Amino acid sequence: MKIKLFVFILFIVGAAVGFYIMKSHSDNNPKDFPVPFSHYVHTSLHKIKCVNCHRGVLTQERAGIPDIKYCGMCHSTLMNPKSKRERIIYNLVKENKPIKWMVHYHIPDYVMFSHRRHVKLGKLPCTDCHVDMTKQDSPELKGFTQIMMPKCFNCHQEKDITIDCNNCHH
Ligand code: HEC
Ligand code: HEC
Ligand code: HEC
Ligand code: HEC
Ligand code: HEC
Repeated sequence: MKIKLFVFILFIVGAAVGFYIMKSHSDNNPKDFPVPFSHYVHTSLHKIKCVNCHRGVLTQERAGIPDIKYCGMCHSTLMNPKSKRERIIYNLVKENKPIKWMVHYHIPDYVMFSHRRHVKLGKLPCTDCHVDMTKQDSPELKGFTQIMMPKCFNCHQEKDITIDCNNCHH
């Protein structure tokens, strides 16, 4: 009996340690964001445009992530008092508490990339390079497949854009 209990405790401790290790290896921890932001709710249900929140896409290199003040443009009043999730963001806005979103898409600093160039001048849709975010109901925990050189290269070749190394590399 005692041995069984001991084995059981070992199992629980082992599982807890395993879970802890797994968590620290995944790069987006739900504890860091007090409310799961839903692209689906904002872009599919309420038709808010990507550029409204990612304000750099037409003018800058970086798309940018909206800060808590920007969420307050809409969430300083309760639109749907029944929604628990909306009340959380409403309270965060009132306390002006920043949220630590984890961003996965990243290319190294030695590569030049500009959203303005591709979205404004190239007129490319976001889905040419990113997954369809309009279906995401909460931030991705494990990360998305990165955009690697062959992807840049193939499209440039297809569209007859220069593939000179110095074009993308410093
Ligand atoms: C209401 C504001 C808002 C709108 C509208 C919005 N986003 Fe976002 N976006 C965010 C926030 C907040 C994050 C960070 C949290 C997350 O990853 O979900 C983010 C993250 C992202 C990321 C980075 C994900 C990562 O982990 O690297 C991409 C790509 C993205 N959005 C694309 C889009 C596209 C495409 C649209 C339009 C279809 C869009 N967003 C519309 C607020 C918005
Ligand atoms: C342009 C207006 C606008 C902006 C900016 C905006 N939202 Fe919203 N948000 C809405 C609307 C409209 C709803 C739908 C109301 C509802 O049903 O709760 C909503 C709903 C939500 C909900 C509850 C929906 C759910 O169940 O998931 C959360 C949480 C939320 N927003 C978080 C954010 C965060 C975080 C930001 C800033 C990064 C943000 N919003 C920026 C318009 C906006
Ligand atoms: C031609 C490919 C391409 C297209 C088209 C594109 N992106 Fe990106 N996006 C990238 C790359 C590459 C990164 C990583 C940039 C870096 O690390 O400097 C990125 C990063 C992001 C991020 C992370 C935050 C940031 O500021 O870097 C967001 C958000 C984002 N893109 C939104 C969008 C939206 C919204 C659209 C459409 C309006 C879009 N992207 C169109 C390639 C693209
Ligand atoms: C889906 C197609 C597509 C993908 C993927 C793509 N590009 Fe482009 N790229 C274009 C187009 C189209 C242009 C020309 C835009 C214009 O009209 O100025 C361009 C232009 C550029 C330029 C400027 C070229 C010049 O003439 O000076 C750079 C630098 C660049 N891209 C880097 C990248 C990098 C780095 C990546 C990958 C992270 C990438 N691109 C992925 C289509 C793409
Ligand atoms: C259209 C844009 C583009 C062009 C043109 C381009 N690269 Fe890249 N390159 C990238 C991006 C984005 C990365 C980072 C992502 C990756 O490692 O695939 C990269 C990464 C690299 C790396 C590092 C790979 C690694 O595993 O760390 C090398 C080496 C490299 N490129 C060499 C070249 C050479 C040589 C040329 C010319 C024949 C060239 N690149 C042309 C976009 C480009």
